[in-house]
Order: sequence, then C-alpha cells, then structure tokens
Amino acid sequence: MTEPATPTAFPGGDALFRLDPGVTHLNHGSYGAVPVPVQEAQEALRAEAHADPDAFFNGVGERLDGARGRIAARLGADPEGIAFISNATEGANLALDAVPLAEGDEILVTDHGYGTVTAAAARRAPVTTVALDPHLPDEDAVREAVLAALTPRTKVALLDHVSSPTARLVAGPRLLADLAARGITTVVDGAHTPGTLAGPIAAGADFWFGNLHKWGYAPSGSALLAVAPAHRARVRALVPSWEDHRGFPRSVEYRATADYTGWLAAPEGLDLLERLGAARVRAHNSALAAYGADLLARLPGFTALPHTPGLPMRSVLLPPGTAETQEAARALREALAAKLRIRVLVWPRPGGGGLRVCGQVYNHPGEYERLAAALPAFLAR
Ligand SMILES: Cc1ncc(COP(=O)(O)O)c(C=O)c1O
Repeated sequence: MTEPATPTAFPGGDALFRLDPGVTHLNHGSYGAVPVPVQEAQEALRAEAHADPDAFFNGVGERLDGARGRIAARLGADPEGIAFISNATEGANLALDAVPLAEGDEILVTDHGYGTVTAAAARRAPVTTVALDPHLPDEDAVREAVLAALTPRTKVALLDHVSSPTARLVAGPRLLADLAARGITTVVDGAHTPGTLAGPIAAGADFWFGNLHKWGYAPSGSALLAVAPAHRARVRALVPSWEDHRGFPRSVEYRATADYTGWLAAPEGLDLLERLGAARVRAHNSALAAYGADLLARLPGFTALPHTPGLPMRSVLLPPGTAETQEAARALREALAAKLRIRVLVWPRPGGGGLRVCGQVYNHPGEYERLAAALPAFLAR
C-alpha cells in the first residue's frame, strides 16, 4: 500500500481562529468555529446595539434586508426566497409546518438524517425510514434506495443534502427531480453545504435549509431557509411577532428583542471565504479530510467507506463491536476528547459505528497522524 500524500498547510489558516491550542479540533462539521475577523464584526455590532438600543432595534429590519441581500448574492439565491433562521433544526420545523399534511400522509427520512431534524418529521406525521447502507457505492445507488422506499402515502421526503455521519451527497439533483415527478414535496437539510458546495442551495427542492455557522464562517446561530415560490405564502414563523403580517421572509426573521448581530455579521463570513478563495479552501479541506480517512482506514479493524469527492468531511467504520449504540458512541467521543484532547464525531451503528474527521484551514496533517497513531491502543483499553 502506498503512503497517502501529505497535504500542505493553508497559509495563515491557524491565525484566523482563536481555537484552544491544547485541543486537536477535527470536528468543524458539528459546530463550526468563528474566524476572528467575523467575531470582531459581530462584537462591533453588539457594541452598537448596547450603545443605543432604540436606534439599533428600530433599524434592524432594513439592515437584515441588506445582510440577506449580500448573502443571496454570494450564494446565487433570490433574496426574497431566503430567510435568516437560527439553525438547521429550526429550518426543518418551519418547512414541515408549511406542508399541508392530511391523515395518513407519511414523511420519508433516512437513517443518516440528523436526529433533531428527523424528530421534527416524527412530530408531524408517521415516518418511513430508509436504511442507507454506508457501503452503497455512489449517489445513484443512494437514489435508488430512496426511491425504492417510497410508499403510496409518502407526501414529503426529508433528505440530507450532505449527510452528517457519512458525509455523502444524498439529495442530488436527479433524486430531487425524480421525487418532484412523483408529486412528493422535498425538504432538504443542507446543514453542511454553505461553504462546502459551490452551489449550496439545492436547486429543485421545495424547501432547503442550511447552516452558515458550520462551513460558511458565520457566527453561531446563523442559518438560512430557502423556499420555492409556490410555498412561500404558507411559511409561518414558529413564534409570531409584530412583523408577522409581512410574510416570508421578514415574518420568519423578526423576533422582537433578539440578538440579530450574528445574522448581520454573517455576510462577513462568506466574504472572508471568498477572499481566501472558496475553491482553494474547499480543495485544501477535502484533501486533509481524505488524508485523515486514508490513515484511519489502514488501522487494524477499520474500514474505508465510499465517499462523495470534494467534501471536507470523511468517515470510516470503526472495528466491529465499537460504538454500536448512541451511548457507546458518545462515551467514545467524550473519552477521546478527555484523554487524548482530540475532537471528532463518533456515530453509532449496529455492528460497529463510524468516526468522522473534518478538514479546515486551521488543520494540519500531523493532527490526523496523531489520531491514527493513538487510536489502536486507545480502543484496545
Ligand atoms: C445534517 C445536519 N442537520 C442538522 C444539524 C443540526 O444543526 P443545528 O444544530 O444548527 O440545528 C446538523 C448538526 O450537526 C447536521 O449535521
């Protein structure tokens, strides 16, 4: 077996963040991390809000229009078709509330879906869960598995754009077109796509939501909901505000005395990504994740998995019997953080769970080497 080529560091990548140097951060995909210039932009906005709250809150609606316009321009979206929201989970709930569901209608989800998002579906209708074998070779096989699980009662398909545990493209354009042709409403979870895909908003989806705070370098609590024109009039804020009568997107964004500074600073994140060179960042991050996954897949008992090329996250299967349940996966993740000071995602699966590594501009090849060197003895404990 040839050794995987060692990727180079991203010049200046470390200095953009204030991460704890005593921790190896290989889990950007879970919460993101906010670059220093974006933290500073948000701090300046907070100072402004605290200096004259009346002026800040009276003008915040127009400023949100401006920030949303900047985001729309960066993502190639219709500014009237997107709204700021707090996170992907909120997006799932808003979208599913906007779909009229009758007695007997079902929502299709996959077992790669994110727990809080799947819970939003289960709260509203019976769910059919498609089991996606992580070994499915490509997106076409994923597409076929999803289509094969449809029932005559499937009204909505709630699908990952890029899945969290396995980092795979699920809701590709062909699958979305196939579902639309069958009259099924599609709701796409793009939590990981802003910053990682050149076109992050799934064209052809009825609803798409995604986080700006993971790979888009935006402050925590910054996300978007995109809604196709036919559905916009039915989207209603989870909590009505004084702006409820204005309809989407303002009715969804406005929430009285909230902290809007994250959304207002969010365009700074996407601007920073553009200044660094989005394609360059993506190439760097995916090369690092691939390097990490290659090292791990060589360890005894570990298994490489098919993957979607170009993404900054990669997963491998852990040795059989490891992390078979949610509790065991959490315990392993916490033990790795406590004992080795390494942060990764460990995901559960009957028979043996998986481990996901991420690549970001602050990461270095040595961090993945340290993880791969430590894991065998650690798991043997
Ligand atoms: C695919 C996916 N969907 C949704 C979420 C939830 O995101 P949030 O906590 O921002 O709601 C995550 C979080 O990691 C995710 O990976």
